[in-house]
Amino acid sequence: MTVLPIRLIGDEVLRAQAEPVTDFDAELRTLIADLSETLEATGGAGLAAPQLGVSLRVFAISPKITDGEIHHLVNPVLDFPDSEDQDGPEGCLSIPGVYLDTRRRRNVIAKGFSAHGDPVQVVGEGLLARCIQHETDHLDGVLFVDRQRPEQRDRLLATIREASWYDGASLPEVRVSPH
Ligand code: NI
Repeated sequence: MTVLPIRLIGDEVLRAQAEPVTDFDAELRTLIADLSETLEATGGAGLAAPQLGVSLRVFAISPKITDGEIHHLVNPVLDFPDSEDQDGPEGCLSIPGVYLDTRRRRNVIAKGFSAHGDPVQVVGEGLLARCIQHETDHLDGVLFVDRQRPEQRDRLLATIREASWYDGASLPEVRVSPH
C-alpha cells in the first residue's frame, strides 16, 4: 500500500493546468492505485493527481460516496443536465481544516476513461456531483477557495494564516471566482 504526501495550497502543481492522459499503461494504473490508497487513508471524498504532485487529468472518488463501480476517472469532461444548484460545506485535503459553504451544480454527468482506456460515465447528484466538480477543478488549477464570494476571502486568508500547516513564507494565492 502506497500512501503518498498530499501537496498543500501554495504548491505550484495545484495551480497548473493538468495534461490529458495519453498512455493507459502500468504507470497510470500505479498512479490510480496511489490516489485511491492515499484517499482511503485520509478518509476524504476525492483526490486528484496534482495533489500528489502529478500534473495529469486523473482523479479518484471514494467508494464511500459512490455506489457505482467507478472509483476513478481519467480525462473527465463534465456535462450539466439542468441548471439546479446546491449549497453545502466543502473542504480540500490540500487546504486542511478549512470548510466553507460552496455553491455547485446539483447534477453532473461526467464522461471519461477507466485505467485501461475504456470509456466510462458517472451520473452524479448531490455530494457525488460536488466531489466530481471539485476534483475536475483541481485538474484546471482551480481550488474551492477560489469559488467563494469575494467578501469571504479575507476571513478565508486569516483562517489559512492561522492553520498549523501554513509555513508563513508567503500567503497562498486565492483567486477570484472563475464563474
Ligand atoms: Ni481538493
